[in-house]
Amino acid sequence: MKHWEITVDADGIVWMGLNTAQASMNKLTAEVLAEFSEQLDKMDQQPPTGLIIQSAKSSGFIAGADIEEFKQLDSPEQANALIARGWNLFNRLASVPYPTLALIRGVCLGGGLELSLACRYRIAVDEPSTRLGLPEVLLGIVPGWGGMLRLPRVIGPQAALDMMLTAKSLDARRAKRAGLVDLAVAPRVMRESAVGLIRSGRPPRRISGIAAVMNHPVIRPIIAMMARKQVQKKARREHYPAPYAIIDIWQKADGDALKIPALMQGIVGSPTTQNLVRVFFLQERLKSLGKESSFNARRVHIIGAGVMGGDIAAWCALRGLTATLQDQSAERIAPAIGRAGALFKKRIRDPLARRAASDRLIPDPQGHGIRHADVVIEAIFENLAAKHALLKSIEPQLKPNAILATNTSSLRIEELRTVLADPSRLIGIHFFNPVPMMPLVEIIAASGTRPEAIADALAFVRRIDKLPLPVKSAPGFLVNAVLAPYMLAAMRAVDAGQSAATIDAAMRKFGMPMGPIELADTVGLDIALAAGQQLSDQTTPPQCLMKRVEEGHLGKKTGRGFYEWSNGKIASHAAASAIPEELAEQLIMPLVSRTQSLVAEGVVADSDLADAGVIFGTGFAPFRGGPLKWLSERKMP
Ligand code: NAI
Repeated sequence: MKHWEITVDADGIVWMGLNTAQASMNKLTAEVLAEFSEQLDKMDQQPPTGLIIQSAKSSGFIAGADIEEFKQLDSPEQANALIARGWNLFNRLASVPYPTLALIRGVCLGGGLELSLACRYRIAVDEPSTRLGLPEVLLGIVPGWGGMLRLPRVIGPQAALDMMLTAKSLDARRAKRAGLVDLAVAPRVMRESAVGLIRSGRPPRRISGIAAVMNHPVIRPIIAMMARKQVQKKARREHYPAPYAIIDIWQKADGDALKIPALMQGIVGSPTTQNLVRVFFLQERLKSLGKESSFNARRVHIIGAGVMGGDIAAWCALRGLTATLQDQSAERIAPAIGRAGALFKKRIRDPLARRAASDRLIPDPQGHGIRHADVVIEAIFENLAAKHALLKSIEPQLKPNAILATNTSSLRIEELRTVLADPSRLIGIHFFNPVPMMPLVEIIAASGTRPEAIADALAFVRRIDKLPLPVKSAPGFLVNAVLAPYMLAAMRAVDAGQSAATIDAAMRKFGMPMGPIELADTVGLDIALAAGQQLSDQTTPPQCLMKRVEEGHLGKKTGRGFYEWSNGKIASHAAASAIPEELAEQLIMPLVSRTQSLVAEGVVADSDLADAGVIFGTGFAPFRGGPLKWLSERKMP
C-alpha cells in the first residue's frame, strides 16, 4: 500500500500505521480511505484478533480530511459523494466483528477523530502535542463522517455540541476525563496498553445516566434550542450556516448529513465555506513564509517594558524562548512581569511548566541580555531622538547575525536607521495590541534592508506561533493604513448625524468583530486622532473626534468617549436605529480601496497576502474571504 504500513504481530493483531504519502502530516485523502477500505475487505475474509490504527509519522496522528479536496467540489453530487465516502466507511469500521482501537499520539482532528470514534476503543498518548477535536466548523463545514453521530454518544450531547460548535480540542488527560478516550497513557507504555485493552473484551464506552437521557430524541429539541441560543450570540446564521446545521443534523437526523441534502447543499459550495477554506489556505501560506530560513531564535531581548514590549516579552517566554526585558528601571518592568504572570496562569495549566515560563522571562534593567540575544526588539516611546540614541548604543553589542528590530507604528525605518553603522540590518517587527490576542505580525523592510534579516524575522515570528506578513516600509504599513480611512469614514458619518450605535451595529452585521467607533474608543481617541492625522487625507479631523479629545474624553481608558465605559465594558448607549441599506458598504469601501492601492504600490506583494493581512490584523469578516475577495463578489447578504 502507498499510505498504510501494515504488520501483524504474534498475537494476530493487525497494526495499521498511516503514513500519508507526500504530506508532512497525515490526512485522509480519497486514496488513503480507498486503501483503508481495501484492508477492511481483506480482514472480512480473514478476521484478525484485533485492529490497531496508529500513525507511522512522528508529526501526529491524523490532522483531518484533505482540505484541498473541498476546493475542487463544484456540484452537490460531488459534495454528497465526499460525505458518503467517510460516513459509509466509518460505519463499516464501527460494525466489524473484531475489536478495533485507535492509538492516538499527537493531533487527532476532524476526520481523524471521526475514524477514532468508529473504533471500539481509543487511547490518547499523554504528551503536549496530543489534541483531539472536531474543528470543521472553522471551515464552514460539519463533521459529516460520523462525528455528529458518535461524539454525542460517547461524551454526551452537551459536551459534544460544545466541542463541535466551538472547535475546542482536548488534550489527552481532558479527553480521558470527558470519556472521549478509554485511557490516557505515557508514550513508553502505549503499545502494551493498546494490546491489553484490545484483548480485554471490555464493552465500548457509552454514555449513561443523565447524559444518555439528554441524547434521547424527545429531549434533543430542548438541548438543540439551548445550543442555538449560544451560537446566536457569536455568529449569524446568514453569515455562518455550519454551526446551525450541526445542531439540526444531530437533532433531526442523528448526525447523518446525507439525510438532509438540502441543508448540506446550502453549506458545501456556499460562499462562506469557500471563503473559510480560502482563509485556511491563506493562513497556511503565511505560515510557510517562515520556512525559508533555518534561523532558530532561542533568546530575545526587548527594550521598553510598556504595553507592547512587556507583552511581547511575555509572549516569547510563553512560547519557550528566553526573554530578557529592559526598561529604565526595575520598577518600570514590574507591571509587565505582573501581566505576564496572569497570561501564564491563563494559558499554562501545569504548575511546573508555568513556573518554567516565568523563569524564562528575565527583568534586565541593565540590558545584559543584548549581547546574547538572537533577536533584539526596541519597543520604547514613539520618539525619534530616543530611539536613535538607543539603537546607536545597542548596535555594537549585538551578535553578528542577531536580528535588530523596531516595533514602531509610525516612524520610518529609513529615518530610524541613519544612526547605525550597518543600516541594512534594522527591520520592523510590528506586533498588534493586545499581543496575546492578535495573530498577525507585520515584518517591515525598507529599500536596502538585508534580505536575510527579513527571512530570519519571518522564521522567528513562526517560532513564537504568530502569522508573519512581509510589508514594505510605508506609512501605517498595511493594517493601520487600511484601518485609518475606515475609521475616518465612520466618524464622518457621526458628524453627518448618524449614531455611533447604528454605525457599529451596521459593521457588526457586515461581519466585523467590533464596530469602528467602539474600536476607536478602545484604542483611545487621542491615539486615533494622531494616527488619523498621520495616515489620512490630511483634511480636518472629524468634529466628533476633536471635540472629545479636547474635552479629555479619550474612550475606554478615561471612562468616556463615544460611549460611556465602566469596568472595561460599554455601560450604556442609545439603541441602534434602523440600519440604512448602504451604510456598511459606504463605510467599508475606503478600507477596501486602500487595500487595493497598497497592493498596486507593492507595499504588500499580492492581493491574497493583503486579504490575509487585513483578516488576521483587523478581524475583517473571515466568511467574506478578505476585502479584495469581497470586492470581487459584492452581492452577498
Ligand atoms: P509605552 O509608553 O507603554 O511603553 C514604553 C516604555 O519604554 C516605557 O515603559 C518606558 O519607560 C520605556 N522606555 C522609554 N525610553 C527607554 C529607554 N531609552 N530605554 C529603556 N526603556 C525605555 O509604549 P507602547 O505603547 O508599548 O509603545 C512602544 C512602541 O510600540 C512604540 O514605538 C509604539 O509606536 C509601538 N506600538 C504601539 C502599539 C500600541 O497599541 N500601544 C501597537 C504597535 C506598536
